[in-house]
Amino acid sequence: MAMMIVTRGKILEVVVLAALVAIGTAAPAMWPGSRDGFECPPPGFDSVKGLDLRKYVSAPWYVQEQMPVAYQSVEDLYCVRARYVLQDEDDLTKGITVYNYANKGEVNGPAEGTSGTGGSSFQLQAVVPDLNDASKLLVGPSFLEKLLGEELAERFYGDYWVVAVGPSSNETLGYDWAIISGGPPRTRGMDGCMTGSKFLDRFQINGAGFWLFSRKPVDPESTEAMRKVAKEKGFDLSVLRKVEQEGCKYEGAL
Ligand SMILES: *[C@@H]1O[C@H](CO)[C@@H](O)[C@H](O)[C@H]1NC(C)=O
Repeated sequence: MAMMIVTRGKILEVVVLAALVAIGTAAPAMWPGSRDGFECPPPGFDSVKGLDLRKYVSAPWYVQEQMPVAYQSVEDLYCVRARYVLQDEDDLTKGITVYNYANKGEVNGPAEGTSGTGGSSFQLQAVVPDLNDASKLLVGPSFLEKLLGEELAERFYGDYWVVAVGPSSNETLGYDWAIISGGPPRTRGMDGCMTGSKFLDRFQINGAGFWLFSRKPVDPESTEAMRKVAKEKGFDLSVLRKVEQEGCKYEGAL
């Protein structure tokens, strides 16, 4: 889900914040949690083994809770949905088109994301570098691949790891819920490990992100199950914000 939205006004902010990060990392003992006995990422942390990607992409995912990131700030956390479409039905190595959808400011507010009428002009895609480890994807803008070639473009893509799934009784769906992390959670948070850095959620693009996905728009049962599993895997749940899905019409979503 890595996107690159850099407006001119933001560049200065990013520079200033980069300086703040440098100061912050110079004094790690000041930050809460730094002296507790836990390691990040947690020892043995890994993504799902043997993920069936075809089932995973067989229906849209509705975000129940997530960590705000640069391209999904708190005001964008309405009706967030992700749909994935194989670029070639017979060949997973051809990649997956990513249609992200969200409403700004309120339920059924202006549509945003790479999906539908509110879609930005560029297309996002997910690629699977190793089909034998299909839960580790990379996401980024398709145009980079055309510009730089596959190998180089992927260095600018962001990690998208499926770190846990809940089985579905529906054979087509395969999974009823999924926990996604922007790679292994390498940063010590307040109460566990997190992706990205601690303070700068507005500026985190690659290597950041944490999402709780369900097949159902409103799904408190799965959300509870996911929070429990995420906690056991060592994640800091305090970064999660609720995504409003009640009453969403997903107008203009692809
Ligand atoms: C399984 O899920 C698919 C996709 O949502 C749906 O079309 C289908 O009716 C479901 N099958 C059963 C048996 O519920």
